[in-house]
Amino acid sequence: MSALEGKKVLVGVTGGIAAYKAPELVRRLRDAGSQVRVVMTAGAEAFITPLTLQAVSGHRVRQHLLDPEAEAGMGHIELARWADEILVAPATAHAIARFAAGLADDLLGTLLLATEARVWLAPAMNRVMWAAPSVRDNCALLESRGVRILGPGSGSQACGEQGQGRMLEPEELVAALAGGGPLAGRRFVVTAGPTHEPLDPVRFIGNRSSGRMGFALAAALAEAGAEVDLVAGPVHLSTPPGVRRHDVQTALAMREAVMGRIGGADGFVGVAAVADYRPAKAAGDKIKKSEASMAVELVPNPDILAEVAALDDRPGLVVGFAAETRDLENAARGKLRAKKLDLIAANRVGDGLGFDAEDNALEVFGADAHWTLSPKPKTALARELVAIISEGLLDEGKPSR
Ligand code: C5P
Repeated sequence: MSALEGKKVLVGVTGGIAAYKAPELVRRLRDAGSQVRVVMTAGAEAFITPLTLQAVSGHRVRQHLLDPEAEAGMGHIELARWADEILVAPATAHAIARFAAGLADDLLGTLLLATEARVWLAPAMNRVMWAAPSVRDNCALLESRGVRILGPGSGSQACGEQGQGRMLEPEELVAALAGGGPLAGRRFVVTAGPTHEPLDPVRFIGNRSSGRMGFALAAALAEAGAEVDLVAGPVHLSTPPGVRRHDVQTALAMREAVMGRIGGADGFVGVAAVADYRPAKAAGDKIKKSEASMAVELVPNPDILAEVAALDDRPGLVVGFAAETRDLENAARGKLRAKKLDLIAANRVGDGLGFDAEDNALEVFGADAHWTLSPKPKTALARELVAIISEGLLDEGKPSR
């Protein structure tokens, strides 16, 4: 059965030449078992008629926000709630900018603000436009909000140029929505964020981890088709689309949440900055201030990553992170061996690098492999790491579950 069987997919068509592929996309989505409704922008009508899309979708095409007749049937908010997935294809540079800015002066813009569905964009534009800084920034902003960007592909363009900017083919878009990525059928457990180790009911020992790298990695794994359990320490981040999140506060709770879900997983990625120690005892009541100095006894926390790697039925791929202030390579390789990992991703921290920053850079080490991932936003970096992880799983040749 297709993963799209019974799914409600809203297709938004905007005004680019690739709109001519929209009817084929709608037809293929329906072939895959989904119900499809189409919304067109005013620009789209210059390229394709609503009648065509009505014929292939089997439903009246919605074009206007303030359309009394259409609103009497299914209002725009209902339509936004109806959808499980919203795919904007083609997504023009203009449509992307409007979405990034949150404009709600037409039906598609309003729907995109009013929906909790997963949103996918299939950009289509001239290669120079695709490379324009404003388009790059708008896409990065949307991705950081969990929007998935599919393509664009490269090749010959309608404008006669060669390069990146072609909308992906309808079958590629349908495969992406169906979760046909390289990690389809694989399950990953990921830890992210700091842990908070209580001293008393109102105080804790913690660290500066924002959780962004771990969340970006969970998002990139899900984007590649994996099923993802994300065990998150206390962070202020929204859950990436398609990811199951389990919130915890302490290292002990994180270990329990991981161990409860690790059986049968294909991969484990420990991105969390787990506190190495916890107070031996958390006071039952708030500790009162006094003139005397005070000592807190700390006891070591379990090393979740090393425990997972030591399991008899360990996941096929166990990946650790190492945040280091000096001697990155030796420290990382040492941890790779000591914890019996398959891969370790190391980054330099301190001086505005790593922990609380938007960008990061990674050196990734395997037993006899090394990759350097140059500084870039954590979302982009996560995708590169997932490509390495996918290769690792393929090499290992473990059959998919
Ligand atoms: O040894 P170190 O703490 O630097 O190792 C970092 C790696 O180990 C990270 O992947 C982190 O998620 C994991 N870790 C863990 N449990 C701990 C400490 C670290 O899973 N108690």
